[in-house]
Amino acid sequence: MRKNLSYYVKSYKLLDDDVCKQTVEELKKSEEDQINSWRQHTFYNVVDGSSSTRSGDKELDVSHVETSTRPLIMDKIWQAYYLYTNDLSFPWWNSWNGYSLVRFNRYKETRLMAEHCDHIHSLFEGERKGIPTVTALGLLNDDYEGGELVMFEDTVLPFKAGEIKVFPSCFLYPHRIDPVSKGVRYSFVSWANPFTRNKSQGFIASYAFNSATGTINSKPVSVYRNNEVFCGADDINFSIDDSSILLTEQAKDQIVVISFNKKTGEIGETLGCLANPQANLSFPHTLS
Ligand SMILES: [Fe+2]
Repeated sequence: MRKNLSYYVKSYKLLDDDVCKQTVEELKKSEEDQINSWRQHTFYNVVDGSSSTRSGDKELDVSHVETSTRPLIMDKIWQAYYLYTNDLSFPWWNSWNGYSLVRFNRYKETRLMAEHCDHIHSLFEGERKGIPTVTALGLLNDDYEGGELVMFEDTVLPFKAGEIKVFPSCFLYPHRIDPVSKGVRYSFVSWANPFTRNKSQGFIASYAFNSATGTINSKPVSVYRNNEVFCGADDINFSIDDSSILLTEQAKDQIVVISFNKKTGEIGETLGCLANPQANLSFPHTLS
């Protein structure tokens, strides 16, 4: 393997100019409409559980606002991880376990991001625990001044709109954004999940429910186990006619369809599976 750290920072030009411009327009509009969730970025302190800025009021703003381009950006992030793992071709690390919903970053004039690494303890605190393995950082515009991405304390990384940089989230990759001196810098970020498993993997059950009393029978009607097919679904839905169960699973980038008998509650066989990359699914999401 290569032993220079910079080798593991890779850039992929994946977003067209019109997608970048459209996204920036919508981010600006969300600000004007005040329907956004922009807030000042803070760093989580794993020791005491507190969150605070490291640069006072100079810290950037962040948002998970839903743009029309978000599904496409999620797909491009997926592609970036895919290209990155292919480029590295490590037999000991060749996959990821889903990734976080894209977060948009906004740097107005004088704003910056303090030096840090992406050991984000507050990101995966549910079924999946741990810190991210790799970071995907994309740039949406480059018509600003200042705002350089600096890694390894003093290395300025050239960054063009539409590029996604992928790099390890670990402590060997400290980075910061220097203050923006003119204009507004828009970027986005997502982190790949740590690969963890839990005891509930590959296991779903159906229970009888009495709508008159609101009680659930303590014993399952039917149990389905198949940890070859799925680990643990993020979301479970029924088809419109209740003849099948749909399991969306970010961990395996797939949707599994399993037959269901609504009269008996019996969970049947796996009917099919839609999986990335062919399926072009964006995660996380829900079905309706
Ligand atoms: Fe970061």
